[in-house]
Amino acid sequence: MKRREAAERLVWAVDTLAVRPADRLLEIGCGHGVAVSLVCERLDGGRIVAIDRSPTMIAAAERRNAEYVAAGLASFQAGELHEVDLGDARFDTIFAIHVGVFSRGEPTRELAIIRDRLAPGGRFYLPYQPLDPGKVEETAAALSAVLENHGFAVVDVLARDLSTGRAGCVIAEHRASAS
Ligand SMILES: C[S@@+](CC[C@H](N)C(=O)[O-])C[C@H]1O[C@@H](n2cnc3c(N)ncnc32)[C@H](O)[C@@H]1O
Repeated sequence: MKRREAAERLVWAVDTLAVRPADRLLEIGCGHGVAVSLVCERLDGGRIVAIDRSPTMIAAAERRNAEYVAAGLASFQAGELHEVDLGDARFDTIFAIHVGVFSRGEPTRELAIIRDRLAPGGRFYLPYQPLDPGKVEETAAALSAVLENHGFAVVDVLARDLSTGRAGCVIAEHRASAS
């Protein structure tokens, strides 16, 4: 997939990840797999695992990324984060774009898994674009509070005015690895 074919919010979201060629990434709630395609364009030696609780979304994401799956860059699993078998994998980057459990739910179980799955120095990214562009800073504060209450240290908060509205991204590390 060419970058221009992806939604601007997803291009910006993947830009925030600062993907390095050898990174190991986990995406939670990958939907159609557009962000996976954008990540794979940047990988050389790294790989991404993407999960979604919807088997329909996973089938669509696998079709979209068939060339990256065949090349061993991307793999997909259907299931919720607490259900999937990630083996002993650890990740440099874990991210979730517009996955409700982090913004509206009680993500204690999910954040414990993410803390365990981050490699030393790894980062968890929550990019988002609220319907109300005036809520970017408010959303960042709410997400940051949840993360800080669950063993993370927020290391950066980004915001960007896109042609489709304002977007934000909260970036956190396991508190034990934050300097
Ligand atoms: C609003 S969609 C966003 C899709 C994509 N990230 C995007 O921004 O276009 C949220 C996706 O997260 C998935 N999802 C929600 N909770 C999940 C969980 N606990 N584990 C895995 N997937 C989840 C849903 O099935 C859905 O495909």
